[in-house]
Amino acid sequence: MTSTVLVTGATGTVGSALLDALTDRDATVRAATRSPPGTGPADEWVAFDFEKPETWGDALAGVDALFVMRPPQLSRVGPVRAFVDAAGRVGVDRCVVLSVLGADRNPLLPHRRIERHVAASPLRWTFLRPSFFTQNLVEVHGDALARGEIPVPAGDGRTSFVDARDVAAVAAVALTEPGHAGVAYDLTGPEALTYDEVAAVASDVLGSPVAYTDPSLPRFVVRELRRGRPLGFTLVMSGIYTTARLGLAGRVTGAVERVLGRPPRDVRAFFEDYGDERTASRRLHGE
Ligand SMILES: NC(=O)c1ccc[n+]([C@@H]2O[C@H](COP(=O)([O-])OP(=O)(O)OC[C@H]3O[C@@H](n4cnc5c(N)ncnc54)[C@H](OP(=O)(O)O)[C@@H]3O)[C@@H](O)[C@H]2O)c1
Repeated sequence: MTSTVLVTGATGTVGSALLDALTDRDATVRAATRSPPGTGPADEWVAFDFEKPETWGDALAGVDALFVMRPPQLSRVGPVRAFVDAAGRVGVDRCVVLSVLGADRNPLLPHRRIERHVAASPLRWTFLRPSFFTQNLVEVHGDALARGEIPVPAGDGRTSFVDARDVAAVAAVALTEPGHAGVAYDLTGPEALTYDEVAAVASDVLGSPVAYTDPSLPRFVVRELRRGRPLGFTLVMSGIYTTARLGLAGRVTGAVERVLGRPPRDVRAFFEDYGDERTASRRLHGE
């Protein structure tokens, strides 16, 4: 029987890639957003807000498998946990949680608090703990990249960048195939690069110079705030880049390859696809 999969965060970086990854699966895909109709290859779009329980019933009706992410915009974990409880009550069978690398070592992280809640629920669970998304280089720092800069305070530290499309591909497998219940996957790319190395790859692939500027932490914070970035997000980014600077973000695992049967995309492959998309978009706009 065809199962029904509910994707929360369906308009986000991982969620939108998950809709793509689910297209060749035998599943009815229901995509959740606060502002439907969204765009993308879903069978159904549903209005859904973690903070509005009155939207949960329609979203959960007939669902077998659930992809749960914690929106960065949501400061509290309570609504996500209450939604998981609701999913358990209406008989959802399995739940794939988008967590973060290192969550198992940090009980204070909201992701870990959600993981623990899901583990105590009747749902069969799979936790995905990804490293830093390669997509951040263009989605968070795209303006700077367009000026030929990567302005993050990560020193010479290495990061095991993971492509969000690979995270989504693993999620699609765990949502639709047996054998992944009760497993936590630490998802990284195939290599750990310094930001100098990332800049060299970007320069080479995009055909224009990109420099890693490595600002001091205070300079980074001031500049991000001046650009209108929220304080909370700026502090989270500062923590992530400090972790890299301290040499704590470079662990590489083989989990993506074990689940997908192929190696994860590397940073070069990411920039090649990004360069192709940028060229296609410029052609479309007559630039
Ligand atoms: N970026 C990284 O490097 C990284 C690495 C590891 C883990 N993570 C984790 O991944 C998660 C973020 O995933 P992402 O990057 O795919 O998301 P994203 O691109 O930041 O998108 C956020 C999503 O959350 C939805 N959303 C926001 N508020 C909502 C609400 N109140 N109710 C329901 N949906 C809401 C948005 O949908 P609408 O606006 O359409 O409603 C959107 O689809 C976070 O938990 C983050 O900690 C990120």
